Amino acid sequence: MSQKSVLFVCLGNICRSPMAEVALRAEAVAQGLALTIDSAGISGLHTGDGADPRAVAEAQRHGIDLNKHRARQVTEEDFLRFGHIYALDQQNLRDLRRIAPGRSLARVGLLLDMVPGRGGQAVIDPYYGDEDDFAAAWDDVAQAARYIVAQLAR
Ligand code: 4NP
Repeated sequence: MSQKSVLFVCLGNICRSPMAEVALRAEAVAQGLALTIDSAGISGLHTGDGADPRAVAEAQRHGIDLNKHRARQVTEEDFLRFGHIYALDQQNLRDLRRIAPGRSLARVGLLLDMVPGRGGQAVIDPYYGDEDDFAAAWDDVAQAARYIVAQLAR
């Protein structure tokens, strides 16, 4: 398990965590940092589905392709494979802590704890919202991505 590996986890793995995944990948490429990056959902309800079309559109607005995403559920093995697992909201964090195996090697935390002044906050679930909510979620995950790269580049 490399410390330079990051998994993002939200509820459905079709909106927030896929946006976080591609935002971090773009930031890591831009900064020349090699990272293993993935995303998963607490729920398996959307397993195999593509990202929400509104998330795809928001990523596209930033020049990033989110068409290839396929949702999957988080697994026990994820806690052994990833150095860092970031929950998109507090409920995701509680669920991750509940399902983490005793032999977990991952540091599990809340994504916006990475952003100064945003500690303890959630990336708001845009699923029942509108385009503006997707834009706000994108801004949050893109900002967090910059801090993750800065930390892991050290
Ligand atoms: P996500 O958004 O957790 O950001 O992928 C959601 C996707 C699906 C549902 C809820 C949130 N759902 O209830 O199906």
